[in-house]
Amino acid sequence: MADRTFYVTTPIFYVNDAPHIGHGYTQTVGDVLTRWHRQRGEGVWYLTGVDEHGQKVLRKADENGAAPQDWVDGLVEREWKPMLETIDLANDDFIRTSEERHATGVQAFWQKLNDNGAVYQGEFSGWYSVGSEEFVGEDDVADGEGDDEGHKISTLDGSRVEHVTESNYFFRLSDYQQKLLDFYDANPDFVQPASARNEVVSFVSRGLTDLSISRSTFDWGIPVPWDADHIFYVWIEALLNYVTAVGYGGDEAAEKRFDDLWPADLHIVGKDIVRFHAIIWPAMLMAAGLPAPKKVFAHGWILVGGQKMSKSKANGIHPTQIVDTFGSDAYRYYFSRALTFGNDGSISWEDIGARYHAELANGLGNLASRAAAMVGKYFDGALPPAGEHGDAERAVVELVATATADADAAIDAVAPQDAVAAIWRIVDALNGYVTDQQPWQVAKDESQRERLGTILNTTVEGLRALAVLLHPVMPKATAVLWESVGGATIGDLAEQRIADVPRWGQVPAGTPIVKTAPLFPRIDLTEE
Ligand code: MSP
Repeated sequence: MADRTFYVTTPIFYVNDAPHIGHGYTQTVGDVLTRWHRQRGEGVWYLTGVDEHGQKVLRKADENGAAPQDWVDGLVEREWKPMLETIDLANDDFIRTSEERHATGVQAFWQKLNDNGAVYQGEFSGWYSVGSEEFVGEDDVADGEGDDEGHKISTLDGSRVEHVTESNYFFRLSDYQQKLLDFYDANPDFVQPASARNEVVSFVSRGLTDLSISRSTFDWGIPVPWDADHIFYVWIEALLNYVTAVGYGGDEAAEKRFDDLWPADLHIVGKDIVRFHAIIWPAMLMAAGLPAPKKVFAHGWILVGGQKMSKSKANGIHPTQIVDTFGSDAYRYYFSRALTFGNDGSISWEDIGARYHAELANGLGNLASRAAAMVGKYFDGALPPAGEHGDAERAVVELVATATADADAAIDAVAPQDAVAAIWRIVDALNGYVTDQQPWQVAKDESQRERLGTILNTTVEGLRALAVLLHPVMPKATAVLWESVGGATIGDLAEQRIADVPRWGQVPAGTPIVKTAPLFPRIDLTEE
């Protein structure tokens, strides 16, 4: 067993509605990263889940004439849990904030902060955006225009704000300004990419005000343990999911698990919520005497038709709309490769279709089926041994080693697109190799049997490397590819280690090479 566990989280998603591919994006990338770490042989813990409290969810339930708990139960079972299957997630846990384990941990955490003087009671009078569940300062409020005419809006994200006056509890966030700045200084990689770090540092440098942590005008939330008239403000309990899910505030065994897993190695978040994760969250943890997470990485928006995709704009695409046509592997491949993690990126149906056919069906799928067909035709389906390697073979072997190292480094840099691009250099090189070596010509000359064997052996070894390297991205197709290259003679695909990928000659000569169904069958997109 590995001696340390790599702990990765996604944000927990509001269950006011069904998921869309923006949510799926974070989950997919987190899954690719964590599967890669598993493939390295590391211990891994991957957490995702849902954020069930707050006014946004409550209002949606009200509009639908449902009690909030019934509303979230229904959506979680019908939509959010099936989504994990749809995009083939190998998460270790799924937390819901209406669970007992969460409430217990949240209450224990804030009781501790209340006891140690980090909390005080006061009057809140100001603006609140239900859309983003956020208190908005006077300077960030403006008169709405167009559809928002007659309303005040938040200039931070354009959502409508309402004026509220409540008796609330406050967290002394202002005490943490210098501590946070010192922390960012000492941990330059804590917030990434650089644009997110700059935003956070400049925000904190301008000064922090204390944060309201409770609400008293509605009751859908976790009760404040020392005052039954209050519930916790949704964000300051939602952030705690990252610790309550791994045992904080639980029994002895749970606390032991927490000690093993905390601090998290990586929180993946959208750029809109980086301030919550990189300012409020570490300050809360400091106040409780707990270590901050090691890294917060903010990704950009998925744009559709040039606009941020969201349910409220009615341009929200459900993951099944893509998976039903292209399959979960292609979905995972597309979102890992076609966008640069950390930047905004546009997606389109045409682009998905084009990449599916050019890269998956023609690039990888064809290579695998040609290799199996040629071993079938020229060697009765049994892998021939390799003779002496020439320059062309040495180039392939070397490329597999450098591409593996580059992909591995890209994963550590939270750059899945670079990892997949590095691996794809192998796909392209193998296709080029087969084209150049022309095994079908070599096969015509009986005296060149050994040479023919070397070419096909090298191709199959390259495919063996690809099956392992692409397993975190496309678990299903690579399982078929593994079968095709006779991987069972080596062992379980999931047990193959990244570090061993470059070791050549792993598939023994004589191994049956299997013709499988096409990995990525062509899809007729004319009707879509
Ligand atoms: N519940 C909070 C998070 C609490 S974490 C302790 C929340 N939920 S959310 O459902 O509104 O958003 C969750 C995530 O989805 C955010 O990281 C957000 O950036 C992401 N996305 C929502 N729309 C998106 C796109 N169009 N593109 C990419 N990600 C998007 O905020």
